[in-house]
Formats: sequence, C-alpha cells, structure tokens
Amino acid sequence: MKNKTKYLVTAALPYANNYIHIGHVAGAYLSPDIYVRYRRLKNDDVIFISGSDEHGTAIEMASIIEKVTPQEIIDRYHFSNKKAFEDLGIQFDIFSRTSSEIHHKTAQEFFLNLINKDILIKKSDKQLYSEKEKRFLADRFITGTCPVCGYEEARGDECENCGSNLSPLELINPRSKITGDIPVEKETTHYYFPLGKYQEKLSDWIFSKTDWKPNVINYCKGWFKAGLRDRAITRDLDWGVKVPVEGNDGKVIYVWFEAPIGYISMTKELFIERNDSDKWKEYWCSEDSKLIHFIGKDNIVFHSIVFPAMLMAHGDFNLPYNIPANEFLNIGGEKFSKSRGNGILVKDIVKYFEPDVIRYSIASSFPENKDSEFNWKDLLSRNNNELAAILGNFINRTVVFAKSKFNNVIPGEESINNLDQEILDQFRRSSDSVSAFYDNFRFRDALSETMNAVRSANKYFNDSEPWKLFKNDKERCGAVIHTCLELCHSIAVLISPVLPFTAEKILKILNKDKSDFNWSNIGRRVLKSGTELGETEILFPQIEDSQIEKIISDESESNAVKNGKGSGNLIELDDFRKVNLKIARIINCEKVAKSKKLLKLKLIVGGIEKQIVSGIAEYYTPEDLIGKLIVVVDNLKPAKLMGIDSEGMLLAAKNNGELKIITVEGEISDGAEVN
Ligand code: MF3
Ligand code: ZN
Repeated sequence: MKNKTKYLVTAALPYANNYIHIGHVAGAYLSPDIYVRYRRLKNDDVIFISGSDEHGTAIEMASIIEKVTPQEIIDRYHFSNKKAFEDLGIQFDIFSRTSSEIHHKTAQEFFLNLINKDILIKKSDKQLYSEKEKRFLADRFITGTCPVCGYEEARGDECENCGSNLSPLELINPRSKITGDIPVEKETTHYYFPLGKYQEKLSDWIFSKTDWKPNVINYCKGWFKAGLRDRAITRDLDWGVKVPVEGNDGKVIYVWFEAPIGYISMTKELFIERNDSDKWKEYWCSEDSKLIHFIGKDNIVFHSIVFPAMLMAHGDFNLPYNIPANEFLNIGGEKFSKSRGNGILVKDIVKYFEPDVIRYSIASSFPENKDSEFNWKDLLSRNNNELAAILGNFINRTVVFAKSKFNNVIPGEESINNLDQEILDQFRRSSDSVSAFYDNFRFRDALSETMNAVRSANKYFNDSEPWKLFKNDKERCGAVIHTCLELCHSIAVLISPVLPFTAEKILKILNKDKSDFNWSNIGRRVLKSGTELGETEILFPQIEDSQIEKIISDESESNAVKNGKGSGNLIELDDFRKVNLKIARIINCEKVAKSKKLLKLKLIVGGIEKQIVSGIAEYYTPEDLIGKLIVVVDNLKPAKLMGIDSEGMLLAAKNNGELKIITVEGEISDGAEVN
C-alpha cells in the first residue's frame, strides 16, 4: 500500500552575519510559508525546516570588521532573524543553527561517509596566502576583478555582479579584503569533491524534470555546458566544522558543503524535540517523501547541482523533488543584497505595518520568473485599493448588515435559491484553481485567483441587493446574508496561506472556531443560523501618503546616521553659511496643551520677538528655561506644530535617551551670530 505523501520543505539557511530584509523574504521565505500553510489546510503531512547558516568567511569577516567574536555575531543575528520571521508570520517547524552540536556531528559523518567510500580526493594545490595576515585568504577574504565580467569587487568564491562561481586564483589583481595586502601563492592540501564525475548523472536527472522552473533548468544548462570540475570542500580557516580526519588541524569543511547538510541535521533536531528521534528518516529517506528547496537564484547551483551530487554520492537520502527558485526583488532598481546592505530590514518594516499587509504586497510582486520591484507606494495602493477596498469591504459590509438588520445573529437560510448555491459552487471551483497554482508553485497566480474569488463575492452582494430585499422579502434577505457569511468563512480559509493573521480575525468576527477551517470546506456551508456574531473590526485601515513619506524620511535619516554623516556627506562652507545660527533669550515658556513632548517658547533674537515650538517637554520644565540664552536656527521656514506657529529651531544634543539644550556660558547679547 502506498503511504501518504510527505512534504519536506526547506528555506535557504540565511547567513547569521546580517539582518534579513524583504528581498530575502521575497526570495526564499514567504513562498514556502504560503506553500506549507496551504498543504496543512489540505491535511498534508508537511514539515518546514530552516535555520541560520553560521559558518564561512561571511561570518568571520563580520566578526573581524566589528572586532567581536564570531559567536557574538551569530548570536546577535540568529535571534534577531528568528524573531523577524516570527513577526512576519513565517512559521518554521524548526529554525535552528549550524553551530549546533548535532549539525557538526551530522556534517562530519557525511564527510566521513564519502571518505570511507573513497569518493573524496586529497590534493595539494596553490592557494592565495597573505604574509602580512599569516593566513590563507579564502572566499570572501579575498577580492579582485571578475575574469568574466570585469566587476572590480568580485569575491573569491563568487562574482555578485554576474553570478559566476569563482576560485580565488581566477581573480585578476587579487587583494585581501581586510588589509588590502597583495597575497602570494602558497601550497596547501585540501579535500576535493569530484563534481565532474557526477555530471552525466546530474544532467540526466535534471533534464528529466519537465515541471521545474525554466530559470533553474537554464542555470544548470549553463553549468553543464561549462563542464563541472572538482571542487575544494575544505578550507584553511578557524571558524567552522572541523575536518574530522586526523592531521588536518586548522582546516574546516567548506561552508557550502556543510550548510545544506543543515537541512538534514535540523530535521533530526526537530524530531528529537518531538521525542520521535528516528522519524526524520521518513522525510529524508523514504520514497513517498518530497524534498522541496525554496531558494533565491543566487543559491541555484548549490541546490540543484552541488548538494544533489553530494546526496548521490552518499546514497542514503532523497534527491530534491523540486527547487522553485525565485529571481531578485529590486528596490529602486538595485538588487536586494545582504552584502551590499541596501534592503528594507524585516525587523524595521514590521514596526510600521501589519504583517499581512507586508506579506500581501510582497506576494503580489514575487519575482517568480523575472526580477521584480518593491516600493512603498505600491504597498500603500495594495493595502488601500485591494486589501481594504475588496477584501476588507466584503467582510465589513456583510457583518455590518447582519449586525444592524439581523441583531448580530447569523440569519436563517430557508429561502436559498440557485444563485446562492452558484456563488458557493463558484468558490469551490476557485479553490481548485488556486490549488493547481500552488501545486505548481505559481504563487502570484494563486493570489490573483484568490482575490478574484473575493471580487465575485462582492459582485454577488451587489447583485443580490440585500438592502432592497430587507424591505420586501426579509426571508430572502436572510438567505443572502447567510450565504455572504458563509463566503466570509470560505474567504478566511482561501486567503489564510497569504494572510494568516487576517484569517484569524475573520474567524473571530464570525465567532467561529477552527473546526471547519480546512481547504475542503471552501464553498461549503459550515455556519449555524442563530449563532451570534463576534465583534467587528476594520481589517485594513487606510494607509496615508504622509505615513509613507514619514517612513521614507526616517529611513534616509537612519541611513545617514549609519553611513556616518560626516564622512560620506561632506558639505561646502557655503552650505553651512546658509544656516543663520543666532543667540536667543528665552523670555517665556509654556507647555503645549494635549502634548507630552512640546513646549512653546517666546524668544528675543536681536530685539525681535519670536515664537518656537520644541520637542523638549520630557526633559525641561518651563521654569528651567526662562531667562536662558540658547542657540537657534533663525532662518528656518516657519512650520506649524499641533496648530501652533514655530519660527525657528533650537539646538540640543541627544544621546542615550538624554537631551541637553545648547546654552551659552556667560553674557552675550541676543541676536549675536554663531559660527
Ligand atoms: N547562507 C546562504 C545564503 O544566504 C544560503 C545557504 S543555503 C544552504 O546565501 F543550503 F546552504 F543551507
Ligand atoms: Zn562577474
């Protein structure tokens, strides 16, 4: 008898050397989360695995730049990223780390397995060595010009510009990334994985995959065409999984060899946590399990060629069933890249918007087949014109109607007619189409089909004109509203893979538990007439332009701070001279009503009276200030703060939550220029 299919879903292990940004989310994390949630609604057996990638020169580099230990780096980013995923509703079964003991052990066993089978080759070769730093410069410790595209900042392992995989010796004008030292070539011994030997087996396997995405197949074609070569899988580094063979002190397993094994070790860890420690094998080794890797395009070669070859060599594990890689999400035309640090960080964006709004706007522009764009205006219009106007509107109008006309109780369905049944049937058909899209990893299509179903619910409401029926056929009106409430439940299920938080809210509004919350109930009647409804709530408050503008200015301000205002941002003396700084005497001061932060100050500047409003009420009382001489910007354009005119700005210094205004020592007349 055939067992039930199991789904082993993985998301690329993010490096713990940086905060994840929404480009990562769009590339490798949101689509698997949606997929897994959909599978669960279909009652499928699915586990979702990810965790931090905590070795490699990316981490060591960050630790050197920041002058802290690698452990401090990985702790900081691991826990922060774990929380960021949680905040966004990305729900892994486990989000572990490759620094764990079980991972080191699993990776070493894998390595030894290949040694024992005589698969790995040991050879001496020249590598780049810095005399000054007394170490070999592996991967990201070395930079130089890409021999393929001429990009001058290519890394030793990869050119970020053209995506070519490189080895340090191929770089033109190589130099140390940290000290700029010009390295010399020096002999060292490493283990190599004979990737070339697997080329035929790999290409047969990949070309048998008729349903894989063309971007993945095409990448592989390029690789096969160039010819696969032996690859060094050990490095002369301190930080990492030690090579488990005697006589290899100071060598670790290459991060790209051990990290994907993390998928295996984290699955083991998950089932140890669940007190079922052998069960991981059912997902990794049994025929009825499907291994699906979600990744961004920069990870394609490792997941579709290198790791599968390792799995073939080992022999005990399944090969991936599919690798639905995404392209890149761009912001303002630039690639979202952790290493260039130009992304919108998840930990920041969740402070501004509800997770579902973020999820929806990312999912609407998933870079499935080509690079795509993300921008704030788009998020605003997705929220206002789609989530609020279509989805929020349907739920709200239905529930408000039931509330005002049927006493907040689900009305009876006595006079159901064909049209009522038809819209429900239509929902079932929609759910089949959405399923087909999800089954084929077409997330954008799934989402637009989902929203079309919600549109048709609105149309049904309009066409049925319940407000007219209420006057002349209350029973029919009840049947229509009952049907609309059933549609609300169906919508909650249908949208929940993308909008899990909203789905929960809809259930609350319907006062319905989760007993019928599954895919097969879409388009079915699951509500009981006579049940009282819950509290209504506006699901998607409008987002205003001004909110977006504020975020953009906050962002650029914090970027300016991060970039160090002084260094990258030098100004001319003339620029400074544009600012009229003058001495002012505070002659009066009072609190601004209804504001915790603002004080209104009356000043005399060069004999002229002026009024300014300043956000210093948490630090000074009016009595502290009257009589003081301070420094103000005298030629600032007037502004209104809480309706009060402000004709300038005082200078103050802020640090660690403390604020001190700039005052003058001794006496000087007001109006004196400061420069
Ligand atoms: N850390 C890598 C990156 O961020 C991805 C590693 S995926 C794994 O690009 F398969 F190696 F784990
Ligand atoms: Zn290049």
